[in-house]
Amino acid sequence: MESDDLILKAKDVTVNYRVRMSFIPALRGANLGLKKGGISAVIGESGSGKSTLLSSIVGSLPQSADIRGLVELNGMIIMQNGDYDKRFLSRRWEYISYIPQNSMNVLNPVKTVKSHFIETGEVYGLSKQEISERITQIFDQIGLDQKVLSYYPHQLSGGMKQRVVIALAIFLRPSVTIADEPTSALDMVTQKKILDLLQEINRKYGISMIVATHDIAVASYVADYFFVFYRGKIVEQGSREDVLSHPLHPYTIYLMGSVVSVNGRNKFEHIRDRIKRPSRMEQPKGCVFSDRCPYSREVCFRDEPKLVDVSSVHKVACFNIDEVRKDVYN
Ligand SMILES: Nc1ncnc2c1ncn2[C@@H]1O[C@H](COP(=O)(O)OP(=O)(O)OP(=O)(O)O)[C@@H](O)[C@H]1O
Ligand code: SF4
Ligand SMILES: [Mg+2]
Repeated sequence: MESDDLILKAKDVTVNYRVRMSFIPALRGANLGLKKGGISAVIGESGSGKSTLLSSIVGSLPQSADIRGLVELNGMIIMQNGDYDKRFLSRRWEYISYIPQNSMNVLNPVKTVKSHFIETGEVYGLSKQEISERITQIFDQIGLDQKVLSYYPHQLSGGMKQRVVIALAIFLRPSVTIADEPTSALDMVTQKKILDLLQEINRKYGISMIVATHDIAVASYVADYFFVFYRGKIVEQGSREDVLSHPLHPYTIYLMGSVVSVNGRNKFEHIRDRIKRPSRMEQPKGCVFSDRCPYSREVCFRDEPKLVDVSSVHKVACFNIDEVRKDVYN
């Protein structure tokens, strides 16, 4: 990815949560770039730091979080070592909108759908006419009946609620939308419809997107670029094609081993079976995956591997790429 093509850059973002007298490391020096007009997926299991990363981009981390690093949007520094740009904070949703995890619960149960749009518009200084024109336009474009405007959240199905939350997220026409597990509470059919909608919005409005998910199948469906996280670190990143067809980090291969293939055969399944369960220890020294990895050697328990280029759009953080490649692909 050329740096000039990037609308959003997170550089060396590190987050520790203060809990009583100690720190919980949640994100360890994440570098992420979002291509203008692209959809990137942040993939990782529970606790890998996905929500922490997204919240550190939009400035919604709790007080207990200690943040380092830098976030840049369209060349403007919006966060540096935990200090957020005031202009960004006061008009955040015009820059980046955020669909939080469990967004089904973000709608106020005592307010109609329409009131949510009116309040958002008023806070951002839109006139009554602008608010009503935007509502009509967005509802038409995302396939929501105007009668939904008079509904209360409890009258909406899960899929409709998520559509309303997405409509709110694009109401102020941000250049970036960030969605944290946007489909995890939905059935398979509705999941697909919501992912189709996000793609349509991306194409129609040119809104660049980050989608966080624990499900590599969701990422494969919606995103063109992948960041694979494990214990707060990016262990592999690359274009959708590279990561799906040629994963090289043992953790990504493990994730791929659980994807059901059409012909019933999965070339990564046998590697998946060799991956150990996570150990109880807080954080192994060296590589974050060393306590589970079938390819680990001495250096892995001592030093942290850095991301290295395996192609112009594919990076992997592993000391043992050659052996993994030989074992998995020969
Ligand atoms: N407010 C908090 N205080 C203390 N620790 C936290 C807090 N929020 C998250 N953590 C810890 O930080 C780490 C990363 O959590 P985070 O919620 O970012 O992961 P995640 O990938 O979004 O997980 P999930 O898939 O369950 O949403 C975890 O170890 C988690 O327990
Ligand atoms: S660096 Fe070592 S422990 Fe980490 S993934 Fe590679 S081989 Fe496994
Ligand atoms: Mg999360």
